[in-house]
Amino acid sequence: AAAPSLQQACEPFTINSDDESADVDWDNLGFSLMPTDYMYVMKCAREKNFEQGQLSRYGNIEFSPSAAILNYGQGIFEGAKACRKADGRLLLFRPDQNAIRMQIGAERMCMPSPSIDQFVDAVKQTVAANKRWVPPPGKGSLYVRPLLMGSGPVLGIAPAPEFTFLVYASPVGNYFKEGLAPLHLYVEDEFDRASYGGTGGIKAISNYAPVMKAQLRAKSRGFSDVLYLDSVKKRYVEEVSASNIFTVKGNLIATPATNGTILPGVTRRSIIEIARDLGYQVEERLVTVDELLDADEAFCTGTAVGVASVGSITYHNTRVEFRTGSEAVCGGLYSILVGIQRGIIDDNKGWVVEI
Ligand code: COI
Repeated sequence: AAAPSLQQACEPFTINSDDESADVDWDNLGFSLMPTDYMYVMKCAREKNFEQGQLSRYGNIEFSPSAAILNYGQGIFEGAKACRKADGRLLLFRPDQNAIRMQIGAERMCMPSPSIDQFVDAVKQTVAANKRWVPPPGKGSLYVRPLLMGSGPVLGIAPAPEFTFLVYASPVGNYFKEGLAPLHLYVEDEFDRASYGGTGGIKAISNYAPVMKAQLRAKSRGFSDVLYLDSVKKRYVEEVSASNIFTVKGNLIATPATNGTILPGVTRRSIIEIARDLGYQVEERLVTVDELLDADEAFCTGTAVGVASVGSITYHNTRVEFRTGSEAVCGGLYSILVGIQRGIIDDNKGWVVEI
């Protein structure tokens, strides 16, 4: 049958969030879309506030060919994860931080945004309705993707007359096909990811298609992903396509400061706090590519990526290898993060939200 239109999908119906686990090979989850049962949709007119949204069956949505999102990329997104605890309870990790980041991004992209409560409630409803798709403990998580977009029609460049906030979800395992094996990054010095005054510091939809060319080229040469440099001096490291970057040298951990070109990752911020609690000196500042190449260790952080150890970095035909495995600092940081996210380690920071 044809997928329902957004109108049809939004008509009232009964949610049947089955307790029985979905028929999924939980041992072989990667990071690709597995459609689930329900999505959440809320609409609002320009200069109005979002008021009331609702769950609908997951399906295609219908927009005018001249929707602002399709023509001018007026859209932002978020990423959050829900984990299943051993006792069956479902846990979200710092969804309020995603809500705040969406509000900041919406302001930059001239869109109204849901309130923090509306955002968190929509994420909770989406996870609860799709609970049979939340992987068993330790097998992965339910990745939740909130979108905010200009859905109304425009012809000249202007904010859309109507906006849509939509949340869907998909079960996921490891982001990289390498699984948990160390990543091999290529330092890109032709294409830039972001520039000062641009949108690199928010999760604009338009930040992501431009990195595909560099990413595909690097992947075809056997690298896992691309590390971008600042667009002016090509001297400072910025971030990887879907994650932030950290270096470790002795007791010092450094990561690029979020100065407008770097995405303020929720995992980034959480790892900084965990590392400081453990006694590491953590600095958020400019990090030169030379400092990175001279580090003992490097790792990436992101909601989708988690914490990924970097095995090597290649810059101008020079390949530098880093400490990985059980000696690596990032493994310990990740265990604490994942422990909190899965409800194995006590959350004394108020980061975990039960659904
Ligand atoms: C996330 O980590 O949630 C992201 O948004 C990265 C995405 C581009 C896969």
